[in-house]
Amino acid sequence: MSAIIQKIEQLKKEKNAVILAHYYTLPEVQKIADFVGDSLALARYAVNTDADIILFAGVHFMAETSKILNPTKKVLIPDMEAHCSLADSCPAEELELFLKDYPNHVVLSYINCSAQVKALSDIIVTSSNALKIVNALPKDQKIVFTPDRNLGAYINSQTGKEMVLWDGACHVHDRLNVDQLVEMKEKYPHAKVLAHPECRGTVLALADFIGSTTAMLNYSEKDDTQEYIVATETGILYEMQKRSPHKKFYLVQTDTKCNCNDCEFMKLSTLSSILSALENEKPEILLDSELMEKAKKSILKMLELS
Ligand code: 13P
Ligand code: SF4
Repeated sequence: MSAIIQKIEQLKKEKNAVILAHYYTLPEVQKIADFVGDSLALARYAVNTDADIILFAGVHFMAETSKILNPTKKVLIPDMEAHCSLADSCPAEELELFLKDYPNHVVLSYINCSAQVKALSDIIVTSSNALKIVNALPKDQKIVFTPDRNLGAYINSQTGKEMVLWDGACHVHDRLNVDQLVEMKEKYPHAKVLAHPECRGTVLALADFIGSTTAMLNYSEKDDTQEYIVATETGILYEMQKRSPHKKFYLVQTDTKCNCNDCEFMKLSTLSSILSALENEKPEILLDSELMEKAKKSILKMLELS
């Protein structure tokens, strides 16, 4: 075991800390985490942990969600700059004004949003439970969906709803290259296409399976197909390949100039930034208690419905 990992393990024990990580983080980070999951599983884990410190290897809104569900615990994030472009595409002040045009609408927000947006929302959803929750609402219920226009359009297409959509997107999923996907399908004719619902409709239309990171992982593990074209962020390949070492996975890239579908914010969690956060007990997620109370209601509603 390397010296840095030993130090992290020792600090975890000394401080009764737990490390949670998302599937998009670096392989070395997923390897040392106590729990790796999609947004829904990570939120659920945070409700039940008895650790004193939660170190969240992921992006800011995920660490914030853990803090809201565990206000008395210390929640650390390895780097405060670990934003989410999708969450940033919906500033709470702008949403508040927007909502004035939609009285009598339920406000449904994807978990990739700030605590302030969660406080303006009635129910939070993740990519794992969005269809189930929307289908459970009364047929004639008017809905505003924030912040992801791609996920929102996908939910509309699957449920027949006409949710009003906030015009936000994830900079990684929104730029996945559909032309390249078409070429890859020709190159690998036996491969199935797995896609995250944050991708554009043009990409989703070519997918054999659409789901959250956990859903795509489970599908590729259990399915008989030996080759997959994967339309999501790079980090998922570590767990996919680990679960199915004999299968082949090909990532759809972003536009040809960039050719990289890393979420740079997820990659800010490194072994050294994790060690530093555990040693110094910062950066810490600190939120106003009134804001947390408001935001918590919409998250608890999700946990109750899913
Ligand atoms: P999942 O909840 O599917 O893991 O997605 C989180 C995310 O940020 C996708 O970009
Ligand atoms: Fe946010 Fe996109 Fe990164 Fe997911 S991949 S955390 S939606 S910026």
